[in-house]
Amino acid sequence: MLFIFRLKEIINQPSLINLNEDYIALNHQDPPALLVYGERLSKSILKSKFILPTNIIDYFKLITHQPEARFHFIEDHFKYSPLMLSGEDHRESRKKLSKLYTSIENNCQHWLSHFTQDFFAQLNPADQNFDPVFFIQKYIASVFNQMILLELELKDAVVPTYLGEILHMFRSIDELNEYEKKLEVLVRFIEDALIKQKKDPKDAWMLVTIAVMGTEPLLGAFFYGFMHEHPHNKAWDAFSLFRASSPVSTLSRFLAKDATIDGLHFKKDQLIYLSPDLIHYKMKAFDASIPASKSYSFSDGPHTCPGLRIAMIIADAFMLAWHEKKPIHLNLEKYQFQRDFILRPKIHG
Ligand code: HEM
Repeated sequence: MLFIFRLKEIINQPSLINLNEDYIALNHQDPPALLVYGERLSKSILKSKFILPTNIIDYFKLITHQPEARFHFIEDHFKYSPLMLSGEDHRESRKKLSKLYTSIENNCQHWLSHFTQDFFAQLNPADQNFDPVFFIQKYIASVFNQMILLELELKDAVVPTYLGEILHMFRSIDELNEYEKKLEVLVRFIEDALIKQKKDPKDAWMLVTIAVMGTEPLLGAFFYGFMHEHPHNKAWDAFSLFRASSPVSTLSRFLAKDATIDGLHFKKDQLIYLSPDLIHYKMKAFDASIPASKSYSFSDGPHTCPGLRIAMIIADAFMLAWHEKKPIHLNLEKYQFQRDFILRPKIHG
């Protein structure tokens, strides 16, 4: 698994790639794990029926050297949620989610803008101790809280939506156990509410995806928006922000069988990593002539992010309010970014 260090090094330092190539080998194995960043090849890979998402749970067990470890709630969640599924199971999972997500998107039109204004009204622009990461976390948690309450037709409860971070290349067993405990509280809360409404508690996973899949990329993208002004000094719009930040830094896949894609031969079980940010870097996506909607930040093919519109609505509301109300004292010098599976703010040192 040493190649994971190499992967992390390259996605954090795009100047290490040769822009004339479409991919780079990450190790000397046969077949090697590849990091692909050519736009056409990436697109073909993401759309290929021979290429499947890797199993993040197996990865965590491997990386922590705990093959016997059990994370019941995390594992159960990913049994139903589409990220690691393929074929009919994947289609079924997406179909269920798309109904829920459409309902959330429609509901958001009625409350999100006022909600965001109220949230920012609590911010004291002169606060010397303003903590930007805590502020974003609190906003995301309270928006997800509200979404879940509305879908469960509950009023004024506090849903434990802030689960922290899970999508790290190097998670420790303790961190995974901590996430597992928080996830259990969230799942039980939603299951209880569904039971009271005589609905199927097994559907809790659908609402849970909002917190599991939405929190980390939104935190990365919003913090990027704090650290970088929009090139025209206006409020970041969601399309430009997500393309500029590409908050999901690494997509991982493997070959279900030997296959030739765009003239390249791949072998069964070969690992392939893709980085939306590197694809943008190679295609010089930041030229003014390339519209911000041309983006791989939400992936492509069957696993394209189903939460894209929800993420867009939240980002537009949040970044507009931020532009109008940001505090006078913003001490961002101590922060930097690190790309991992997700882009995340990090304190220097
Ligand atoms: C900044 C915000 C977000 C970004 C950049 C983002 C990006 C992505 C990307 C790149 C994938 C594909 C992963 C892959 O191909 O391996 C994905 C999948 C997914 N996202 Fe998002 N996401 C965001 C927010 C959200 C939100 C708010 C939700 C839920 C409301 C969500 C739900 C999902 C789900 C369920 C999947 C799995 C889809 C599948 O595998 O078929 N995402 N997201």
